[in-house]
Amino acid sequence: MKLRAISLTGRNPAPYLPRIKEADILAMVLVAGVRQAQKAEPLGADIVIAVGYEGGGHLGRDDIGSLVLVRKVAQSVSVPVVASGGFGDGYGLIAALALGAEGIEMGTRFLATEECPIHARYKQALLDFRETDTTIMGWSLGVSGRVLATGFSTVILAVNKKAVRRSDCCRFWQGREIASGHLMESSARTMSGSFKGSASFSTVHPLGN
Ligand SMILES: Cc1cc2nc3c(=O)[nH]c(=O)nc-3n(C[C@H](O)[C@H](O)[C@H](O)COP(=O)(O)O)c2cc1C
Repeated sequence: MKLRAISLTGRNPAPYLPRIKEADILAMVLVAGVRQAQKAEPLGADIVIAVGYEGGGHLGRDDIGSLVLVRKVAQSVSVPVVASGGFGDGYGLIAALALGAEGIEMGTRFLATEECPIHARYKQALLDFRETDTTIMGWSLGVSGRVLATGFSTVILAVNKKAVRRSDCCRFWQGREIASGHLMESSARTMSGSFKGSASFSTVHPLGN
């Protein structure tokens, strides 16, 4: 089966786009701002995916809500735009189409599907948590991401505030080393008492909704 499309994210897509085009594969570039979208189009992006602040997982640095971002990007490029960030059902799709997008990308919603090979408690947490139960981590590392607010994320945010050097934070984030013994202890406590690990979350409705 031939690979039909590749989604590029996280860094400058320029070095990769020529090879993707050469292989006749559709290039989709994730953007979190209008400027990025306008740069991606002439570089050869076939589709831009505009990811707003509501998105689960990794976010852009400009904190622009999907409602504003998708409309602005749709007005700024001529290639098709896919709306992303907080879109989890048909209602979101209709809203995205009204903003000028051609479709939506769903991330978090798929975590809560039967096919997704993550732990059942993770899926249940996605269904149980409310829209207020997320937080953003990793801003000081330049890799901000929306996660479920858990005891674990609280500890990481505390380390984030206390860390003197960027590397302290990185090590904690990766779970290889701990910046402070005290924080490690409280991390272990809060993790064992609540849902283990961090999880990306934005808008998830019960399956089949
Ligand atoms: C578990 C998870 C991991 C993700 N990892 C990445 C990633 O590594 N890089 C990235 O650019 N986006 C990542 N994302 C963001 C998705 O590509 C997508 O933009 C986002 O999930 C859309 O918002 P939604 O979750 O509200 O549907 C991730 C999302 C989730 C839910």
